[in-house]
Amino acid sequence: MKKISLYLNSLVLLLLVLSSCTKAETSFTVNSPDSNISVEFALSTTGQPMYLVKHKNKTVIDTSFMSFDFKDLPALKDNFKILNSTTGTADETWQMPWGEQIDVRNNYNELVVNLQEESETKRLINIHFKVYDDGLGFRYEFPEQDNLKEVLITDENTEFNLTGDHKVWWIPGDWDLYEHLYNETKFSEIDALSKQNHPNLNATYIPENAVNTPVTMKTDDGLYLSFHEADLTNYAGMTLKVDNENLDMVSELVGSERLEGKAKVSPPFNTPWRTIQIAEKAGDLIESKLILNLNDPNVIGDVSYFTPMKYVGIWWEMHIGKSTWDLEGSQDMNTFTTGKVGTSRHGATTENAKKYIDFASANGVKGLLVEGWNTGWDQWINTDDREGVFDFMTPYSDYDFDEVMAYAKEKGVEVIMHHETSAAPRTYEKQMDVAYDFMKANGINSVKTGYVGKIIPKGEYHHGQWMVNHYHKVLEEAAKKKIAVNAHEPIKATGKRRTYPNAIAREGLRGQEFNAWASDGGNPTDHLSVVAFTRMLSGPIDFTPGVFNIKFDEYKKDNQVNTTLAHQLALYVVIYSPIQMACDLPEHYILDGKVHPAFKFITDVGVDWEQTKVLSGEVGDFVTIARKEKETSNWFVGGITDENERIETITFDFLDEGKTYKARLYKDGPNAHWNENPQDYSIEELELTKTSTLDIKLAPGGGFAISILQE
Ligand code: NOJ
Ligand code: CA
Repeated sequence: MKKISLYLNSLVLLLLVLSSCTKAETSFTVNSPDSNISVEFALSTTGQPMYLVKHKNKTVIDTSFMSFDFKDLPALKDNFKILNSTTGTADETWQMPWGEQIDVRNNYNELVVNLQEESETKRLINIHFKVYDDGLGFRYEFPEQDNLKEVLITDENTEFNLTGDHKVWWIPGDWDLYEHLYNETKFSEIDALSKQNHPNLNATYIPENAVNTPVTMKTDDGLYLSFHEADLTNYAGMTLKVDNENLDMVSELVGSERLEGKAKVSPPFNTPWRTIQIAEKAGDLIESKLILNLNDPNVIGDVSYFTPMKYVGIWWEMHIGKSTWDLEGSQDMNTFTTGKVGTSRHGATTENAKKYIDFASANGVKGLLVEGWNTGWDQWINTDDREGVFDFMTPYSDYDFDEVMAYAKEKGVEVIMHHETSAAPRTYEKQMDVAYDFMKANGINSVKTGYVGKIIPKGEYHHGQWMVNHYHKVLEEAAKKKIAVNAHEPIKATGKRRTYPNAIAREGLRGQEFNAWASDGGNPTDHLSVVAFTRMLSGPIDFTPGVFNIKFDEYKKDNQVNTTLAHQLALYVVIYSPIQMACDLPEHYILDGKVHPAFKFITDVGVDWEQTKVLSGEVGDFVTIARKEKETSNWFVGGITDENERIETITFDFLDEGKTYKARLYKDGPNAHWNENPQDYSIEELELTKTSTLDIKLAPGGGFAISILQE
């Protein structure tokens, strides 16, 4: 395997010697506040920008070059000189309105290098590095200038030159969706093209051997690296093209056939931050707030109109084929057929909504989502022309919108709006204004959006600049009307929730729904043990946990959830989101005529946190997280394992000194197994203090959840 030498290392040395004679600096080093991470920047002998990253003096990203290609203009690549450079440092603490914790420390050292081409064009670009204890970010800043006006970027070439054949957890660099299974391979074995044309995905386009971000790796030395981007605004999403042989990655932006390029930008303009998280423990990746810190502070002000909450919904019943979204009964999720008008099994009826409201209000669940309430669902998939299909104001005739709203209000339940756009964003943009006014007039403060299908117009992709701008517009328009957004088939999270905290959650992964319909066996038992260290690093996930009827044979014989019931409970703590669904049917939460005893954990568990601690974890194997609820100071602990049984030892040193707590442990029963006996569970009452330790047995595909409530 060919490997580029430590070119920059020796060059930096040489340049340092030179610089002492010439004064003008041509290479720079910026360290993290704790000095463990250092980033070196220099120009090559041809004047091309390049960087290198070390962790504890060991190179973790070898000499990596940077350049841009433009349409009808020469590339921005060589012949640069350094005009100026500035360094700085920051240490501040900001607060999240809702989140995994209240206080976030933003502590970094920064370097800005101002470059100019020595050729006639004399174009300018600044490269801005911020180095933190948990990793780094850098971005390109194009200042306003005479020789560079509006440009069409045809390629951004940011290299990430790896130092070994790391173990990688990856999904393909799909331009249309992130709903692939994670793969665990050596870097040299990444083969994204083998994931093309997946039969269960409604829109997928994988043009290169590239991966999507966040992509997480483990080196032979046991160091964890995760690559992503922060503050993706007015630009195309970044995938990383893989060079299996040279162990190198280079940014590959999502394109647009209409644009015939990747991103159209006009200086002054900044690209998103390219980020590398570096951690000695896998759990530190989860605790890292690097991505959020690289975003701007809140620009929309107070978001108290949004209350973090748990919710139920007319949702899982469509996915398992019990009912349909459309009144006409034209689609059947049992057989995956569409277009045949059958007998109506419409889920979103007034009566059914009331049933969910009754269950929610009796069991401490605040929210209700109703999908299929509005007209258009008979034509939402498999039609080429989906413009104008959905109407976000008109309920089906068997759904009395006003009656449901009044009943929800009476029972103290908050309704969540649903807007499936069927990937026709122009139709949505036309109706957005009135649709949001309609919501607010009815006291609805949040919306779940959806973008199923290929984007209309043709030639655009979910993750391209045009759609990035659409998703951004939705956030802005919603913020103006005081509405929070949970997007499905979204653009990936890049920490924008700091700037727009009405961006509450999103999908952007293979969610629970795949367990209901995938013919390839649904999500494997280790799915969430990978997700916690990959997708979850980017932001909150609307995974929709809480299936109790694990096999649902009554509806589908060949599908099931591949976890135990206790694993489902653990997900309320393991997976972070300020909204968490209890996704199963109300009747599945009833056991022997009473609410299932394990549902009490869902009733009790928090959704908004003062603190988060990852107690243990290994990517793809297991993870245990403890979170302290805001205001109540209740603690909740959740742990999951993959297909292997595990004994997890927990020490409770995060509890207060001198206090005895009453706790309740929900765990796998003695015979539990994700396939053979997934619903076997047991509940134990405990007393815990700061010095307690507990050994908990997790079944194959199992988990546990603990509630530690303040008396
Ligand atoms: C896909 C979403 O992920 C799912 O949650 C939703 O039910 C359907 N689209 C319909 O909008
Ligand atoms: Ca989806």
